[in-house]
Amino acid sequence: MKILVTGGAGFIGANFIYYLLDKYPDYEIVVLDNLTYAGNYDTLKDALKSPNFKFFKGDISDRVYIYDLFEYEKFDIVVNFAAESHVDRSIKNPEIFIKTNVLGTNVLLDASLKYSIKRYHQVSTDEVYGDLPIDRKDLFFTEETPIHASSPYSASKASSDLLTYAYFRTYNLPITISRCSNNYGRYQFPEKFIPLMITRALNDESIPVYGKGENIRDWLYVEDHCSAIDAIIHQGKIGETYNIGGHNEITNLELVKIVLKELDKPESLITFVKDRLGHDLRYAIDNTKINTELNWFPKYTFEEGIKITIKWYLANIIWLEKILNGEYKEYYESMYKNR
Ligand code: NAD
Ligand code: TYD
Repeated sequence: MKILVTGGAGFIGANFIYYLLDKYPDYEIVVLDNLTYAGNYDTLKDALKSPNFKFFKGDISDRVYIYDLFEYEKFDIVVNFAAESHVDRSIKNPEIFIKTNVLGTNVLLDASLKYSIKRYHQVSTDEVYGDLPIDRKDLFFTEETPIHASSPYSASKASSDLLTYAYFRTYNLPITISRCSNNYGRYQFPEKFIPLMITRALNDESIPVYGKGENIRDWLYVEDHCSAIDAIIHQGKIGETYNIGGHNEITNLELVKIVLKELDKPESLITFVKDRLGHDLRYAIDNTKINTELNWFPKYTFEEGIKITIKWYLANIIWLEKILNGEYKEYYESMYKNR
């Protein structure tokens, strides 16, 4: 079995690579990633030691390059993680989100069709459903919830989901789609909330909480996301979408307090800042379909996952510092100054 993982130098993609290498030592695994600010070649250094692992630097929206790669490598399965993934960046500059997430997905779908890929899997997000009210704890996103994206990021992901499904209906491309809630774990770029707050707290710097910190996210440990995608690409039904989540709903303010306690840092670091434009209120996944059809359940509780994650960042300060010493400072300034 030969599997192409796009975006494999990013957070979830890299975790998926290590998951695959461990579970399927006979698979040939290929990463395609163009190493944007979020892609990190260092993250894959252990994978590169594996004889059944290969890395290509390239852009999913580069049609000529992608067709060549598919022609030459002859993949069985394609799992598309490659994306621009940060909501705040999409609010500042939507264009690259359309290029990578929509046009890039289109190129991968065309190549998958042309080279008769056995399974194309699109990694998507619960954010395509928009948001839920904070005071209606009885409501959850199911696979039937209408698409109602709020940010340029989620709109671009919704577009790629619709295109993926259209390639199944129109051309019979064997596709599956997964929509997961917020992930956390090792190798996450410190623009996302959990690694951002760990990084800042470690340096005794203020932690910016948008609005009143009331927004709710449904957190899932990254390894559980990987095992869910594994279940879907091997047992999922073609043409189907599966929601992935672990029922771990927490307000942002509660989340910061948990992390600060774990790091033994004071709550006085919490600083309320101007809210995100169009800030989604609450995400919450109904995971009944993947539970019942694929017998998938998360393994990690939030308490376990967050402890492992914090421990990993503490033990991998060098990984973090390489990022912090690069363009990251300018990013932080431009995003948070005068906020
Ligand atoms: P990430 O930003 O950490 O990684 C994205 C990777 O894609 C990077 O390595 C980057 O270099 C690569 N990439 C970007 N543009 C590319 C292009 N044009 N060609 C090739 N490679 C390109 O993102 P992540 O958090 O690991 O998310 C991975 C996927 O999972 C995304 O599709 C995202 O929408 C989805 N997702 C993320 C979460 C989450 O909580 N992080 C939750 C649900 C779904
Ligand atoms: P984020 O990690 O960006 O994920 P997403 O927007 O895709 O859910 O943000 C998680 C939550 O944390 C979201 O409600 C926004 C909030 N947040 C802050 O309060 N401060 C921050 O500095 C960041 C990055 C996010």
